[in-house]
Amino acid sequence: MQAMVSPRPGIHVQEHTIVKPIAPVHQLAQYKELHQYSLENSDEFWRREAHKYLKWFSDFDRVSQGSFIEGDVAWFLNGKLNASVCCIDQHLPHRQDQVAILWEGDEPGHCRSITYKELYRDVCRLANAMKAMGVRRGDVVMLYLPMVPEVVMAMLACARIGAPHSVVFAGFSAEALRDRINDTNSKWVMTTDEGKRGGKTLPLKQIVDKALKEAPSVQHCFVFERTGAPVDWVPGRDVKMSEVMAQQRPYSPAETMDSEDLLFILYTSGSTGKPKGVAHTTAGYLLFAAMTHKTVFDLQEGDVYACVADCGWITGHSYIVYGPLVNGATTLLFESIPTYPNHCRYWDLIQRHRVTQFYTAPTAIRALMRYGTEDIASFDRSSLRVLGSVGEPINPEAWKWYFEHVGNARCTIVDTWWQTETGGHLASPLPGVTPMKPGSCTLPFYGVELALIDPSTGQELAGNDVEGVLCVKRPWPSMTRTVFGDHARYLTVYMQPYKGYYFTGDGARRDADGYYWITGRVDDVLNTSGHRIGTAEVESALVGHAAVSEAAVVGFPHAVKGEGICCFVTLREGVFESPALEKELKQAVRDAIGAFATPDIVCPTPSLPKTRSGKIMRRVLRKIASGESDSLGDVSTLADPSVVPYLITAIALKV
Ligand code: WTA
Repeated sequence: MQAMVSPRPGIHVQEHTIVKPIAPVHQLAQYKELHQYSLENSDEFWRREAHKYLKWFSDFDRVSQGSFIEGDVAWFLNGKLNASVCCIDQHLPHRQDQVAILWEGDEPGHCRSITYKELYRDVCRLANAMKAMGVRRGDVVMLYLPMVPEVVMAMLACARIGAPHSVVFAGFSAEALRDRINDTNSKWVMTTDEGKRGGKTLPLKQIVDKALKEAPSVQHCFVFERTGAPVDWVPGRDVKMSEVMAQQRPYSPAETMDSEDLLFILYTSGSTGKPKGVAHTTAGYLLFAAMTHKTVFDLQEGDVYACVADCGWITGHSYIVYGPLVNGATTLLFESIPTYPNHCRYWDLIQRHRVTQFYTAPTAIRALMRYGTEDIASFDRSSLRVLGSVGEPINPEAWKWYFEHVGNARCTIVDTWWQTETGGHLASPLPGVTPMKPGSCTLPFYGVELALIDPSTGQELAGNDVEGVLCVKRPWPSMTRTVFGDHARYLTVYMQPYKGYYFTGDGARRDADGYYWITGRVDDVLNTSGHRIGTAEVESALVGHAAVSEAAVVGFPHAVKGEGICCFVTLREGVFESPALEKELKQAVRDAIGAFATPDIVCPTPSLPKTRSGKIMRRVLRKIASGESDSLGDVSTLADPSVVPYLITAIALKV
């Protein structure tokens, strides 16, 4: 065991030191006992929690069934419930006047408070409006919405009528939206006239119009007003939602759903070019989101909880909407960005709303670190108790800055490791329970059993002080049940790499104390500014451009984004490299995916390093892009080794 230090203001936390929990009692032993219990008495453990958190129309008759090998996992079998009832109705008897959603718009202080009672009425009206327009139980509804309260209402209204939602982050391009609509064959898309973000206006309806030109399944586009700007209108197809909602009564019976009915689909990137529709079902997902939210953030009555992610990602689903609302919390919805109107926006937000838990990504912390600490000190952050981190590994330097300067060395940092597919946190410190180590997501959550596997042998690594690929050893309630419309792909990607385990795609180390340290993706997925992007998606955008004949995309360490995107391209005969062409290629990626996937480097090359059998050697490209050309390893198997020095020089000129 390494030295333990108590967190005091000004303390310098060493990279691998343990920082004691902030709460007075150190309860690691109790955690270990309960964790053990949750594994040994899984059914009893989860039955009790399911009754505690969720409102059931009728009880389930079996806690869990199925295995990773069969890919047939199900939880809380034959239980009946409705997610919107768990999120709203169950709180009406005792907290109808409490604020459910605290919305902070793009301009500081432009706020809306929506109580549980108001949320109930609006969700009912919206559910009725959707039904009046033809939406039925089982229909997939696409939500291309910015961070306005309507995004939460729409998710809950879909849940109320039993229509699975598929939220598409409003930073995705028209092409990306079109592909997602076509994958679900959805008849319904919801959007706003425009969006506001960081002082900029996003033409959302216009983007939807473009997507719908090639999405023939869509019957109606439901439009909310955010700015009131005039937009093009397709009569018969486009529906002004405020008008239809005004005609609806504020009561809507909730559909009786089965525990295993689909709650939502969320597209995420994988190793291949086509994003996967990760499918989550109702009871297990809701329970795990709520329980982790309550436990990891130490939620108490009266808290103002702020997760500044976007509802277009899983973090928004589980930790802005479903987890907090099942728990009856006040959840803050943030429309803006950390640097608008200036770099103090988060601190101002925390001070004005007396935020108790604040949840963001390491990339935002690293971006804000550049502005120093003087300004932060002038904001009152005494309300804070827990600071969360999500989306990518947090480097110890950023961890310490967050801990010391944002949390005044008196808040717990919860470094939460999880994925779109896991539905909720699988590993995180618990406030007052787990001693922290900067950069480690520490220990598994209750009911979660992690394993490290040696990729060369496929064998599980026993004991501590080992490193391998990170897998999960037993089903948990909020695991994804399938890839929408492609169960075979689900089995191939997650269940078949290591028989009997769920494969996460991440590498990790387990240290001498049994703590987990995520080392990053082991597949062809990049994590740039906390966003998951498949290298194959970027490559397919590049080769879609007439000038490009071949492309290979790799990540490289980036001081703020975590990982940057580096694209090596070979050009067609007669095409010559130029700054204008590089700009065009970056634009091609923005058009295919969205601005958040804009490449950092585009490097034209006469050829790509390939083996004699024609396989691109990405390992070599990654090293070159990372400026580690002195440790390229064996390049003698390359068909044409002369390309290596060329690329080393070309990259040196770019960075
Ligand atoms: C990475 C986001 C280290 C990881 C919730 C994972 C992390 C991928 C952490 C999932 C963390 C997420 N420490 N790495 N605390 N949290 N990741 O699906 O590589 O957008 O596999 O879900 O992000 O990204 P996704």
